[in-house]
Amino acid sequence: MPDFNRRLLPLLGHSGGSRDAMTCLYRCGNACDHPAPNGSDNPYLGDVVNAEMTRRGVVRAGAVGAMVLGFGGSALAAASPAMAAPVETAPLGGALGHGHHPQKAGKLTFETVAPNTLDQVSIPAGYRSSVVIRWGDPVVPGAPAFQIGNQTAAAQAKQFGYNNDFVGVVPLPGCGGDRALLVVNHEYTNENLMFPGFTTLDALGVEQLKIAMAAHGLSVVEIERVGRTGEWKPVKGRKLRYNRRITALETEFKLTGPVAGSALVRTAADPAGKIVIGTLNNCSGGVTPWGTVLSGEENFNQYFVGGDGAPADAKPKLARYGISTTARYPSDSRKWDRAQERFDLAKHPNEANRFGWIVEVDPFDPEGRPRKHTAMGRLKHEGANVIVAKNGKVVAYMGDDERFDYLYKFVSDKKYIDSDAPWARKHNLTLLESGTLYVAKVTGDSDPAEIDGTGKLPADGRFDGKGQWIKLVSGNTSFVPGFTAVDVLTFTRLAGDAVGATKMDRPEDVQPSLRTGKIYAAMTNNTNRGVGTNAKPDEANPRNANKHGHIFEITEDRGDHTGTGFTWQLPIVCGDPAAADTYFGGYDKTAVSPISCPDNVAFDSAGNLWISTDGNALGSNDGLFATPIEGKERGHLRQFLTVPKGAETCGPFITSDDKSVFVAVQHPGEITGASVEKPASVWPDGGFAKPGVVVTWHKDGRPIGS
Ligand code: FEO
Ligand code: CA
Ligand code: CA
Repeated sequence: MPDFNRRLLPLLGHSGGSRDAMTCLYRCGNACDHPAPNGSDNPYLGDVVNAEMTRRGVVRAGAVGAMVLGFGGSALAAASPAMAAPVETAPLGGALGHGHHPQKAGKLTFETVAPNTLDQVSIPAGYRSSVVIRWGDPVVPGAPAFQIGNQTAAAQAKQFGYNNDFVGVVPLPGCGGDRALLVVNHEYTNENLMFPGFTTLDALGVEQLKIAMAAHGLSVVEIERVGRTGEWKPVKGRKLRYNRRITALETEFKLTGPVAGSALVRTAADPAGKIVIGTLNNCSGGVTPWGTVLSGEENFNQYFVGGDGAPADAKPKLARYGISTTARYPSDSRKWDRAQERFDLAKHPNEANRFGWIVEVDPFDPEGRPRKHTAMGRLKHEGANVIVAKNGKVVAYMGDDERFDYLYKFVSDKKYIDSDAPWARKHNLTLLESGTLYVAKVTGDSDPAEIDGTGKLPADGRFDGKGQWIKLVSGNTSFVPGFTAVDVLTFTRLAGDAVGATKMDRPEDVQPSLRTGKIYAAMTNNTNRGVGTNAKPDEANPRNANKHGHIFEITEDRGDHTGTGFTWQLPIVCGDPAAADTYFGGYDKTAVSPISCPDNVAFDSAGNLWISTDGNALGSNDGLFATPIEGKERGHLRQFLTVPKGAETCGPFITSDDKSVFVAVQHPGEITGASVEKPASVWPDGGFAKPGVVVTWHKDGRPIGS
């Protein structure tokens, strides 16, 4: 490998761990400056639950049914035969006939992109990329042209929002794989970089707060393929039936599941506890086999004030979710109570309970209320990704992105119907409304004395072991002593504490491979691991002060995604490959790229693992990486793309014809001291920085990565 791939670059002014101080403030309310909210000592679980786990562990093996899916309702039936092995399906191009030639696993031949600090999207030779859409571009018909000096909440509510994170591409039925709906999360806003003349958050006017609220949420944008290439552009000049903005400001959401209507979510504005205004801090997500998008409400804590005035019995629960209960105005609060009183917990203590859910958006129902599924639990949800189990139930894997928090899975009560008939889709839309929620507990198979915190492999040569999915709640039945079902679902973190779940190093995106059925979770970092009185390293989180993160691979026992037993390994322990504490599946480390802070994971049709990063602590810009994950090439990880200065790489989304990879460039130029007038990045248009979505394709139409 060329020497430049391993050259370390000077740090870019990152504070503390690996993220810029400005990102820490705006994205997660300086979470790293506070003690991690998980203060539990995780007592072991009672016999009742263990007995239940044992019983369930023997069911379902050998069951038959459809395995999973790519994306999109239509064309799905033709593309997903009932079979026990995972399938590559794929409405875009593949089943619809534009020469879909799935790659063979292990054939990643692109030219490695070197670490760099350039203010551009860097891609391998032979590839092309373009901006699909960026902050301020029109989404809803009638949206005014963006003017940074003349922003209004009404305009922003029709324009593409700020800080794009998750990217999903849902094919439009009957369009030959050439038209699709791009669904994007807008996680948070950075007012320093949005408003000319910004001084402090306190000095923002109410209209500016409302602009920020309108810049949160999601966008649905109809896009079309450019010619026969892998490039995509927004559709213009046609009736845009599905284009939509969903915002924190005014979009109504319906609560579903056991918590809907309960006392914990009733407020003065919604005494029935069923309709919530807005969604907050939507980070990552997933596309379901029935063509909807799931979106995780993550760091919702930073939007609330007045936790000091909340009822005494609510305070420990608020604190477990990172909300201050000692200060009215925590220094990192966005103080949105100045625009909408509901964000004041002293007056409306239940409002916080209405955020932290998995949201399901049906992009084909532009007038409908998106739903918040309470049966899937309330955490700082990174996202959710669904696989159809052998028995037809759907299983969603989820991470709670906080230091020392947990991994979860949800198993539906009902079974997926593999049809795009309207009646079948109507049924599938209810799958996430009822089911069983589990949290992960893992153990290593090596002597704990061998896990010394340095990252040194134990004598058996692998960080690996076994795990159990501990049942927390099923429908209205709680399996956690002292908790009702509504308690478990609303205060899921505390339920995880009570059953002794395993404290992980910030679980971000969790995604099943549709080719192997194995599940991959990004542990992005945890600089508190093993520090002071914090939890010590264990085989699943083996490094002290884990700056660079690792990948956690789960293999469900007997390939049964609805079961309760699994084995696990760490295929990649990130960092500088020249450092002794890194591991790349046993592959020759001189041939891999440095990688730090894995955040999002995805797969191409060959089953290669793609990883995007957030917070490179090695001094380079963030990027997108790819590696085969099976066979001799397992761990041969190389950098495919880098994003501009100050940005993280989000998405990624690879279309199932493998012709296009979408990434979201989130918070370009977010470096302390930057402003509109003094930008640290001018990507993509010059002048000042704008978050935006980029598509990359091979100039000859070859599969991405070849
Ligand atoms: Fe929004 Fe977990 O990153
Ligand atoms: Ca081991
Ligand atoms: Ca993330």
